[in-house]
Amino acid sequence: MVVDYKKLGLVNTREMFKKAVVGGYAIPAFNFNNLEQLQAIVKASSELRSPVIIQVSKGARKYANATLLRYMAEGAVAYAKELGCKHPEIVVHLDHGDSFETCKSCIDSGFSSVMIDGSALPYEENVALTKKVVDYAHQFDVTVEGELGVLAGVEDDVVAEVSHYTKPEEVVDFATRTGCDSLAISIGTSHGAYKFTPEQCTRDPKTGRLVPPPLAFDVLAAIEKKLPGFPIVLHGSSSVPQKYVDIINAHGGKLPNAVGIPEEQLRRAAKSAVCKINIDSDSRLAFTAGVRETFDEHPEYFDPRQYCGKAREYMEELYKEKIKDVLGSDYKLTNID
Ligand code: G3H
Ligand code: 13P
Ligand code: ZN
Repeated sequence: MVVDYKKLGLVNTREMFKKAVVGGYAIPAFNFNNLEQLQAIVKASSELRSPVIIQVSKGARKYANATLLRYMAEGAVAYAKELGCKHPEIVVHLDHGDSFETCKSCIDSGFSSVMIDGSALPYEENVALTKKVVDYAHQFDVTVEGELGVLAGVEDDVVAEVSHYTKPEEVVDFATRTGCDSLAISIGTSHGAYKFTPEQCTRDPKTGRLVPPPLAFDVLAAIEKKLPGFPIVLHGSSSVPQKYVDIINAHGGKLPNAVGIPEEQLRRAAKSAVCKINIDSDSRLAFTAGVRETFDEHPEYFDPRQYCGKAREYMEELYKEKIKDVLGSDYKLTNID
C-alpha cells in the first residue's frame, strides 16, 4: 500500500519549480534530523510564506528512525497551518537516495519527491537506475531529482576528493532518457563546512579571511542553453556564515578555515534556472553556535530545552535570512493568505 502524499497535504516539486524558474528565485531545500530543525524550518517558511522542501538523507533516517521522521515531516503541514499559514506548500523529499529500494520505500511511505543519486556510477548505469526510479515514482505523481557530475566532499558515506563538473553535452540525453523532473549539477559547490582548501582560495587583505574561487557559471549557462527552462538543483550550497563560525570559535569550538559558497554567487544562481538550493551545514553551524554559547554562558544548565531552544532560535534566524536575502522565495506561495 502506497501512502498518498496529497492526502497528507504535501505537494510535489513540479509547479513549485516551474514558478521558481520563471520568477527568478530558488526554493530552499533544508535537511533535518531532529525536532528543533524541523520546527525552525516550518516556522521560518510559514511566517515568510515561502514554499519549502524538507529533506531527509539516508544518514538522517538512520539517526532519527525513518518511520518517526516521516510522521514528523507529515506534521509539518498541520504545524504550518497552526502558525497561520493557511495554504502551505511543503515537499517532503529524500536527499541522495542511493538505491531503487530506498526511493521506493520513501515513495511508499508518503514522500512527495525523491532524489536518486547515481552520479558516482558509470553514465549508462546512472541513466538506467534513474529511469527505474522515475518509472515507479511517476505512477504516484512523485517527482524525481537525478544527478550528473560529482561534487567534492562527503555525501553520506561516500567521499570524493575532487569534483567533476557536469558535462553540458550529456544533459539532454540524460533528461530525455530518464524522464527526471529536475537535475542536480556540479559547478564547483561541495558538501560540508570546508568546501575549499586554503590553497584553493585567496585571502581578503583586510579581514584575512579565505575567499573561495568562483562557481563555474559558464558551465551553468551551457547547461541552461541545452535544456531551456529545465529545473536545475545545486547541492553543497551552504555559505558557512562567519557569524556562527565566530560564535562557535569564541565558545570553545575549533573550526579553522571553514569556508562556504559566497551568498552573492547563490543569489546569482537563484535568478537562473537553478530552482532548488540545498542547505544543511549552515543549519548545523547555527545549532552548534546556540548550544556552545549557552553552555559557555550557563554552565549550570542541564535542561535540553535551554540549549536546544537557543539553537532553534539561531536556526530560525538563519532560515529566514536564506529565504529573504539569498533565495528570494519569500511570499511566493500561490495563495499567501
Ligand atoms: O548531502 C549531504 C547532506 O548534508 C546530508 O548529510 O548524510 O550527514 O545526513 P548526512
Ligand atoms: P551543504 O553541506 O553545503 O549544506 O550541502 C547540503 C546538501 O547538498 C544536501 O544534499
Ligand atoms: Zn547534497
